[in-house]
Amino acid sequence: MRWIDTLEAAAAEKLPEAAHRYFRQGSASGISVREAVEAWAAYRFRPRVLNDVSAVALGTTVLDTPVDAPILVAPSTLQRMTDPDGELAMARGVGAAGSVMGVSSNAGTKFAELGQTGVPWWLQIYVVRNREITLRMLDAAVEGNAKAIVLTVDTPVVGRKEDDGESVWSLVQPGQLLANLPDGDWTDDDLDKADDLTPDVIGWLAERTSLPVVVKGVLRGDDAKRCADAGAAGIIVSNHGGRQLDASIPTAQALPEVAEALAGTDVEVYVDGGIRRGEHVLASLALGARAVFVGRPALWALTVGSSAGVTRLLTDLADELDHTLRLVGCSTPSALTPDLVTTRFVN
Ligand code: FNR
Repeated sequence: MRWIDTLEAAAAEKLPEAAHRYFRQGSASGISVREAVEAWAAYRFRPRVLNDVSAVALGTTVLDTPVDAPILVAPSTLQRMTDPDGELAMARGVGAAGSVMGVSSNAGTKFAELGQTGVPWWLQIYVVRNREITLRMLDAAVEGNAKAIVLTVDTPVVGRKEDDGESVWSLVQPGQLLANLPDGDWTDDDLDKADDLTPDVIGWLAERTSLPVVVKGVLRGDDAKRCADAGAAGIIVSNHGGRQLDASIPTAQALPEVAEALAGTDVEVYVDGGIRRGEHVLASLALGARAVFVGRPALWALTVGSSAGVTRLLTDLADELDHTLRLVGCSTPSALTPDLVTTRFVN
């Protein structure tokens, strides 16, 4: 059995039931979370043969940051529930794999401390109703040496999780969440996600931080174009791991349309959701992604093996990508083209 496939069950043994459930679940009836992996597995390859694949190189750049392989870690909350060092352990593991870490607005670790690990990291921002909070968080991220701002746009309201049993929020200890919330007497209304955002917010974030802005949560070509026109440097094709609008289309289905809409621009396209194997990474890259993000597998790996677990997850996936690249007859991710991929049983 692949080590990666053992991770969730091993993590479930170590985590409180409510935390495991929170990490794995989707919103509403769970259609999108169920379909995500299946949608990648529906692709079929049309390999090239008689190409010299004796020297494969996986290295690339994401927004000018060099990475050892095009496999990055998605932002997620509650990492201190998986490992006492939380995001710091994640950062060390990601750094050792030569990758980039997405850091949640809700992280339980100060941005300055993350910066000190030396890992290249991107701040994921939820713009909240009281923009003063957002502005101060952005300033702290810049001071902590964030390399990009990831604006999550699929969360005007938080997706409802329909589950019974103890809530994970009753287990959260002080310091495990929102370590970067600026001091202040904030009300719930101040902290609610902004639901009045338009593409103008992209320029606002770029101006405040002088950092590239990546828009996370796009599933349509026309929206990708609107973001690009408003100055986005990157787009993450994502349905939030099936945790926002349930029954939104799988990212495996959305990616080609977004890549096509941005063809000929220098906007970088990334994708997340259900990516669990080298074959899934390969299909993503062939269909136009520059890199992929993994979410839940990184949480399981952190739970099971702390920073070394995260490094192993990323290097195992990179090793699978290397293997699969050779089998489709390509030596680098940039040599992958959409014609290498087709839909199951259709040709
Ligand atoms: C997330 N995700 C997420 N996204 C975001 O923009 N801000 C956040 O704070 C969080 N928090 C979060 C917590 C947990 C427990 C999960 C599982 C996910 C979504 C995440 O960045 C990513 O889009 C998905 O996890 C990708 O799907 P996979 O790889 O988990 O299938």
